Amino acid sequence: MKLEALPVSKGNYNLNSYEEVYQSFDWKEAEKEFSWSETGRMNAAYEAIDKHAESFRKNKIALYYRDPDRDEKYTFKEMKDLTNKAGNVLKNYANVEKGDRVFVFMPRTPELYFTILGAIKLGAIVGPLFEAFMEGAVRDRLDDSGAKVIVTTPELMDRVPFDQLPNLRHVVVVGENVKEDDFYIDFLSRFKESSKDLELEWVDLTDGLLLHYTSGSTGKPKGVLHVHNAMIQHYQTANWVLDLKEDDVYWCTADPGWVTGTVYGIFGPWLHGASNVIVGGRFKPENWYQTIEDYGVTVWYSAPTAFRMLMGAGDELVKSFDLSSLRHVLSVGEPLNPEVVRWGVKVFEKRIHDTWWMTETGAQIICNYPCMEIKPGSMGKPIPGVEAAIVDDQGNEVPPYRMGNLAIKKGWPSMMYTIWNNKEKYESYFMPGDWYVSGDSAYMDDEGYFWFQGRIDDVIMTSGERVGPFEVESKLVEHPAIAEAGVIGKPDPVRGEIIKAFIALRDGYEPSEELKEEIRQFVKKGLAAHAAPREIDFKDKLPKTRSGKIMRRVLKAWELDLPTGDLSTMED
Ligand code: WTA
Repeated sequence: MKLEALPVSKGNYNLNSYEEVYQSFDWKEAEKEFSWSETGRMNAAYEAIDKHAESFRKNKIALYYRDPDRDEKYTFKEMKDLTNKAGNVLKNYANVEKGDRVFVFMPRTPELYFTILGAIKLGAIVGPLFEAFMEGAVRDRLDDSGAKVIVTTPELMDRVPFDQLPNLRHVVVVGENVKEDDFYIDFLSRFKESSKDLELEWVDLTDGLLLHYTSGSTGKPKGVLHVHNAMIQHYQTANWVLDLKEDDVYWCTADPGWVTGTVYGIFGPWLHGASNVIVGGRFKPENWYQTIEDYGVTVWYSAPTAFRMLMGAGDELVKSFDLSSLRHVLSVGEPLNPEVVRWGVKVFEKRIHDTWWMTETGAQIICNYPCMEIKPGSMGKPIPGVEAAIVDDQGNEVPPYRMGNLAIKKGWPSMMYTIWNNKEKYESYFMPGDWYVSGDSAYMDDEGYFWFQGRIDDVIMTSGERVGPFEVESKLVEHPAIAEAGVIGKPDPVRGEIIKAFIALRDGYEPSEELKEEIRQFVKKGLAAHAAPREIDFKDKLPKTRSGKIMRRVLKAWELDLPTGDLSTMED
């Protein structure tokens, strides 16, 4: 399925000629941006905050924060002082030292960001946790990483099973009237009285920065370790892909519990000295549009699920806000349906730029750029400095349009450094030819655009036809009655597998046999007869990760009566 390219909007972009830069770019050019290329000393938190606090940007707003109870803003100078204070609390009361694992488990508030950056200033490795994690998920991560300190709130503290975590030395509690002893530390009081001067720990390129746990289709979550070197790619992609400029107001909607919320919620924007908007609290379409209007957001990075929810809230709502500040919109995390791209053009008059990457790749890898034609449904092309290909199971590149493993040539700056405590798992990602194998299946067209098909284990074989569930899901959500769809292969004695769809309907539609038949015909006509779901189940809601991915393995487990496996990354 190939769709017409949309017209390229005119503008002066940071990346003006993709092909030219792709041919000539060398990562050494990006390294020059950072102090360590001269001094050999580095710290990502210095580059993100202190450097700007010591420059002409010192009084520029670094952080705009709001949630239902708070409305605050901080300059780069203030951010330097406040992150230093947080660093001092961790250093002086929790004895945090270089290399220690410090976990943060709290809602998205300014204190969360002060703490993450303060810990990084000490050379600690930060492990961010989603607020919604329950005890088992918290325990697995702290235990595997040997965490020394966790920073949390009185509300979430009950979910930290202290007695099962022998390595844990201190709990830093962010709340009112915290009782202190050898173990508990009262963050807010200590923060108030701490100095705003801190001696920063200078580290090496390969010293740990972030430890993001992520779950595969089987087994326990694994700890993906990123090191300070990754910031070179954070910086460079924020330049080319986010297209950040001096006067941008940038908003990434992701929580730091997810890698998008650290890499592009903290480092991408702040390495460029951009003004960064952070919004706490729950998702509400009105509040989102209001945020764009109030702050005059210019660059907006979100996810397909959020866009689909906004789409579900209706076009009328969009019209009641002034969103004219927006100049660049991006998406990540799951396939961006062509339908959503077309909706974006209609209501925002902006193309939504899809970006593909993984926790393991540490930064964007395959993207759509403002200067480039977009093919709705395609993830775009690899960033300069990165080689991507579709390979077979032996590591040989396959011709255009042939489905295979989406693979990246080893050696980009933000590639995971290792899997914590699990070298074997780390090595299992690589194939002969120095290919990192993503676990995604995709194909490349004859113009070098990459098209996502599904996770390898999700690809459906029905009557000998290979069907990517995403293509079917995308077609399904084009139907006016359908809000969300998840598609799996269900074992079938005759056809190998048949296509089964789980569907959540939009408000105002009721399940019925007629509707099922109508949906089948819709896919048959719009896509292919063999791609039409033979079975359809209507559900109120589909199981999804917090980053918005439909969890097909849970659908499969429901269908086949299997155990659902690790659900710690599933949304509430
Ligand atoms: C999926 C970190 C389609 C993919 C950002 C990948 C996508 C997994 C896209 C990584 C996209 C991410 N189109 N699929 N643009 N971006 N994915 O580590 O399956 O939580 O392997 O994301 O998300 O998930 P992670």
